[in-house]
Amino acid sequence: MQITPATKIVGLIGHPVAHSLSPLLHNSLYKSLGLDMVYHAFDIVPSQVEAAINGFLALGFLGFNITVPYKESVYSLLDYTDMEAQIIGAVNTVKIENGKMIGYNTDGQGFISSLKNSGFSFKGKNVVILGAGGAARAVGVYTAKEEPAAIQIVNRTFHKAERLAEVINYYKGCKTAKASSEISPNADFIINTTTLGMWPNIKNNPIKGFKLANHTVVCDIVYNPRQTAMLRYAKEQGCRTCDGIGMLIGQGLRAVEIWLGYPLPRYSWQYMSETADRIEN
Ligand code: ATR
Repeated sequence: MQITPATKIVGLIGHPVAHSLSPLLHNSLYKSLGLDMVYHAFDIVPSQVEAAINGFLALGFLGFNITVPYKESVYSLLDYTDMEAQIIGAVNTVKIENGKMIGYNTDGQGFISSLKNSGFSFKGKNVVILGAGGAARAVGVYTAKEEPAAIQIVNRTFHKAERLAEVINYYKGCKTAKASSEISPNADFIINTTTLGMWPNIKNNPIKGFKLANHTVVCDIVYNPRQTAMLRYAKEQGCRTCDGIGMLIGQGLRAVEIWLGYPLPRYSWQYMSETADRIEN
């Protein structure tokens, strides 16, 4: 790809970002779609976050993604945020338009797209969410939109699970979500949103010892490693699984659509997922 003065710049801020797959996934997609854009990852220390994003605005960036640990701190530096980002209280995508920064959270949409692309649906199902942090809020809010029968939130710190259930119920005007200290044996889906199992602590399995029913689908939003200890455990018990790379792809594609202002072709999903497979092998 040729970078010219007309090339639009987008990027990622986080700390650290050295292991991010996003630049490879995005840049190869842009090339295949003929988009005159380039995606770069910026490792920004906490004291420079505000200066960095003001720099992006001054330099005419189209927008940027935000990853750990800045999804909540960047939220308060923006001009506007959409409703879901407000409910979630965190942003992972910013569009820069007419000198203003507008925040979105595409993590939840990315997760739901990944689920649907794997042929699953939450409608009328019992969904268990493990964790109650920022990622759980994004997954929980978008899960509630899919009309599950029930959402159970299980978290080490119980009051955070209760708080998340309140947020989801308030958002949907229903009583679908509740906190629980144990995973229900009737779970149709169990979704890990905690950091358990993430590299370098890859032996951690948040459902270790839990007897899974055959029909339970186990999803992990951790994608490094792609086959987490939890997913391996679920497969050993004959369960179907959904790995975290799909959410990474889904949230990334949605971010590009926000930056461009139009939907991407359907094959973009397939293309990014093949790129992810090539990177892994
Ligand atoms: P993120 O924005 O990635 O969701 P976070 O907001 O820090 O990150 O949330 C991390 C989640 O992983 C929380 O639900 C956390 O549980 P607590 O609320 O009790 O802190 C969960 N988590 C992290 N380490 C854990 C561990 N060792 N055992 C159980 N849960 C853990």
